[in-house]
Amino acid sequence: MYIIAHLSDPHLDGSEEARSRLRKLTSYLREFRRPVDVVLVSGDLADHGQESEYAELAAELKLDVPVLVLPGNHDVSAPLRAGLADFVDSAGEGHPVHQLHDVGGARFVLLDTSVPGEDHGLLSAESLAWLDGVLAEPVDGPLFVAFHHPPFELNHPVLDQWLLRSGPELEAVLRGKPITAILAGHVHNGLATTFAELPFLVAPGVRSTPPLPFEPPAPGGGLVDDTTAHPGLALHIYTPGAPLQTLFRHPA
Ligand SMILES: [Fe+2]
Ligand SMILES: [Fe+2]
Repeated sequence: MYIIAHLSDPHLDGSEEARSRLRKLTSYLREFRRPVDVVLVSGDLADHGQESEYAELAAELKLDVPVLVLPGNHDVSAPLRAGLADFVDSAGEGHPVHQLHDVGGARFVLLDTSVPGEDHGLLSAESLAWLDGVLAEPVDGPLFVAFHHPPFELNHPVLDQWLLRSGPELEAVLRGKPITAILAGHVHNGLATTFAELPFLVAPGVRSTPPLPFEPPAPGGGLVDDTTAHPGLALHIYTPGAPLQTLFRHPA
């Protein structure tokens, strides 16, 4: 059994509120009777992309298990690389921050879908070629591809403006590859669906949970930034020869 604790969108900003929401999840993980194999945080790590916010995250993620991080639209490449140097392994400098990690027999391809200064996501031809090359390498164990922006709409008038705008191109690269699951964040909602005929799993938002328009509205009537919902995470459980299982947890 191989367990991935998948968190997303802590949006650390130096505030006690943001820190305590993330800490609810890290405290929960620290109490595990059998530690998870890896922790993945799928973007919007810092709210303003400042090095001090990344330093804060680095301190919160000292968990005695391997931790992987990738950028979202709120992140800024250079401070992220500097503040999270213990976690990030990416060639080059600046943007994009693509990574390849092998952790305990599982392979993680971490893509940077962010566009500096923009909220939507995009993958350049160079990024797609890098992904295609990495996915051509033989793998023995489970293979996960992770990035921040989902490439499909959620029927949400705000979130749907900020999605990954490279869906067809990405689908062409991913389709038919031996990928166990695709892992994402950004929409601050736990979500299970498929993309390119592969499992596509989105972690709940640590910082907030925007309701869908058909749900009861958030306090104040807004469609984004409901911080009254408990922070959550996904636990992806891989067993060789069996389909991946995902649990969504919202520790009180
Ligand atoms: Fe976010
Ligand atoms: Fe985001």
